[in-house]
Amino acid sequence: MDIQHIGIVGCGLMGSGIAQCAAEAGYQVWVKEADEALLAKGLARIQGAWERAAVKGKLTGDQKAELGRHLNGTTTFAALAGCDLVVEAVPERMDLKLQTFAELDRVLGPGALLCTNTSSLSVAQISPALSPHRLARLAGLHFFNPVPVMPLVEVVRTLATDEDTLAALRAFVAKLGKTAVLAPDAPGFVVNRLLVPYLLDAMRCAEQKLATVEDIDTGMKLGCGHPMGPLHLSDFIGLDTMQSVAEVLFEAFGEPRFKAPSVLRQLVAAGRLGRKSGSGFYRWEGEKRQEAL
Ligand code: 3HC
Repeated sequence: MDIQHIGIVGCGLMGSGIAQCAAEAGYQVWVKEADEALLAKGLARIQGAWERAAVKGKLTGDQKAELGRHLNGTTTFAALAGCDLVVEAVPERMDLKLQTFAELDRVLGPGALLCTNTSSLSVAQISPALSPHRLARLAGLHFFNPVPVMPLVEVVRTLATDEDTLAALRAFVAKLGKTAVLAPDAPGFVVNRLLVPYLLDAMRCAEQKLATVEDIDTGMKLGCGHPMGPLHLSDFIGLDTMQSVAEVLFEAFGEPRFKAPSVLRQLVAAGRLGRKSGSGFYRWEGEKRQEAL
């Protein structure tokens, strides 16, 4: 399969990161957002990343302009008609995913690959939105935050995904300069199945005052060589996201280690969603953080 044109549906944090990486890898990229304001915000995030790279001397003015020519914005699904691969990165709601894939089913060519960047929903549950002939080309491509920095992508296969699709997706991930691991279409795939109970356990430790938030983070950062401590990372991922992933995993496996602790529920209920809302386990001022539990 010759992949040249990439469509990204949703230009939030994940979608803009995927679009940025695809443009940097030389693909022609079409980013679709729900309206002009969201589109402008998403495209500005990508241009901002390229501006910062230029300021650091990592891109010349010409290279930045060339990257810009690989990036196209749209608010219509019809503009994605010529795409060989589309990655959906809309919010984690199955109704939105189903609507998106039904629209893609209408406009894409018969050989197009269809991927979701879901981190917690079942890929196979998207199938009813698609014509039967497309199911062999449906898969998950689970990127990690921040997308431009994190070198892993989980390639998620359903029982219907065919070998040609998996090979094409592995080649796509390699062209982005990232490493693919193959994961089954099971809740949490591989990484979140292991990561989430660890982060929830750290929250329980903070809740039980085993140590301060700072000391739990410093312990795991310096004691285990992790780039961020678990409570810092939870704030970074977003506590609402943490809670919804925990709910999916707990419902699937029923094990207490997947259960969202009460401190997480309380923080989310109070609107303290982590770094994006200005506070969570920490109070955030830009990159600066102060313990806030
Ligand atoms: N977007 C783009 N680039 C970023 C970035 C961002 N949000 N944050 C940092 N960077 C870049 C910087 O520009 C810098 O690039 P340079 O070397 O070219 O100058 C480089 O990353 C290093 O950044 P910093 O020196 O500022 O900071 P750190 O060295 O502390 O790295 C970090 C920041 C990469 C975020 C690192 O702390 C890290 O790896 N943290 C763990 C992240 C992680 O575990 N992510 C997975 C979350 S789980 C997930 O996504 C799954 C989901 O389903 C829940």
